Amino acid sequence: MTGQILVVDDDPIECKSLSEFLRLEGYSVDSAEGGAQAIEKMQNKPFQVVLTDVNMPDVTGFDVLKHAAENCPDLSVVLITGYGQIEAAVEAIKLGAFDYITKPLIDEGVKLAIDRALGRQQLLRENLELRKQLGLRNQYSMLLGRDHSMQKIYDIIDVVANTKATVLITGESGTGKSLIAHTVHQKSTRRDQPFIEVSCGALPETLLESELFGHVRGAFTGAHADKPGKFELADGGTIFLDEISAASPSLQVKLLRILQDRTFEKIGSNDSIATDVRIIIASNKDLNQEIEAGNFRADLYYRINVVPIEVPPLRERVCDVAKLAEHFTIMCSRENNKNINGITDEAMRRLQQHNWPGNVRELENVIERAVILAKANTIGIDDLPPRITDNTATSPQEAGVLPLKQALEGPEREIIERALRAAGWNRQKAAEMLQVNRSTLFKKMRKYEFSVSRGMETD
Ligand SMILES: Nc1ncnc2c1ncn2[C@@H]1O[C@H](COP(=O)(O)OP(=O)(O)OP(=O)(O)O)[C@@H](O)[C@H]1O
Ligand SMILES: [Mg+2]
Repeated sequence: MTGQILVVDDDPIECKSLSEFLRLEGYSVDSAEGGAQAIEKMQNKPFQVVLTDVNMPDVTGFDVLKHAAENCPDLSVVLITGYGQIEAAVEAIKLGAFDYITKPLIDEGVKLAIDRALGRQQLLRENLELRKQLGLRNQYSMLLGRDHSMQKIYDIIDVVANTKATVLITGESGTGKSLIAHTVHQKSTRRDQPFIEVSCGALPETLLESELFGHVRGAFTGAHADKPGKFELADGGTIFLDEISAASPSLQVKLLRILQDRTFEKIGSNDSIATDVRIIIASNKDLNQEIEAGNFRADLYYRINVVPIEVPPLRERVCDVAKLAEHFTIMCSRENNKNINGITDEAMRRLQQHNWPGNVRELENVIERAVILAKANTIGIDDLPPRITDNTATSPQEAGVLPLKQALEGPEREIIERALRAAGWNRQKAAEMLQVNRSTLFKKMRKYEFSVSRGMETD
């Protein structure tokens, strides 16, 4: 693990030998002979960990700690106290020290304290990174949409949020799977605990496993220290495994295990670790097809398919386009300091006609571009990209649209035929099954050219 360590001791020999030892262990080390020098160095250079003796004349270890607490909140301070100075140690922790070690120093003890402190640093950095990611898109937005398919999804979320049930979200790219996963977490009592997202497709196999389960020092070349995995970091919260179809066979086995008994081992260790995580999984591939192709374990599929949520593509919920487009217009306008408050009817019509292969994400991008381009305070047709404005010539036939009556004929004929077959071509029975009267059935059989006279279709 890298990170700048500052070693502070007023005794030059102690200071030198401790620094030397840590340097030989592969850490990057600077040293200060006394508290005053330490504070000066801390002002000029960022350190991750300060390892300081408490008992120093003039500026003590406590003063160094106080300076750190006031000026470098992300720095971890480890204090070295004299043998039997337990009160001092307790006081140190109260004042915000990360840890303390007592003299005489034992190599392993020093290293352990440093590694733990660096581990905390890594956590802090990851949290910062996560916060940055969240901040990018003004946090996660609200799930919008009134289409009945979305209503069903809201109902499922409400029912399962507060359980620990594994949720499997499927749908094309950009349909809102990640947003739904986050909404489940937000609506659960775990909302104040971590929500950790891992995309199984984003990392090579071995890295992904160490990312998820962590590793112990020496597990592989470059594993200089223990590292907690995402399953450990998500303890008490939710882990969101995106693109699950990309999980390798070996990872699939490990996931099966964790789903079964919520335990796992760090890479390079035999100790089982228990974790209390809610698991949410997403896939934009059809997992049944992946099973048939031999890429995905059927037993894992049954384990994860506890609460399935299928998110329909945007083209199947056209009635939501307007609501989403308006929402994105207001958000993007605010983000870009513009004053755009609507979309012209003509532009909205084009948006509703588009088939949105990139789903809600594509709509969001189109609106963002339009907001940036728009000169007036509404989005007009000229602000939309050609692929959206060019598709107006589509005739009903080209778009596969038939008059409703005509379109229903095919399915109706099929339903009638199915009933007649099931009834052994007995019209009375078939009419009962279809819950229509005999004469209606008779008329329809005529219309669809079933053989009425013999009561049987000649096929
Ligand atoms: N119903 C919705 N209401 C509001 N915003 C939505 C909705 N669905 C999706 N979005 C927004 O659209 C964008 C894409 O959604 P999201 O990232 O959740 O899709 P995804 O299905 O996870 O995509 P991918 O498969 O590429 O990971 C996000 O910015 C998200 O906030
Ligand atoms: Mg996603």
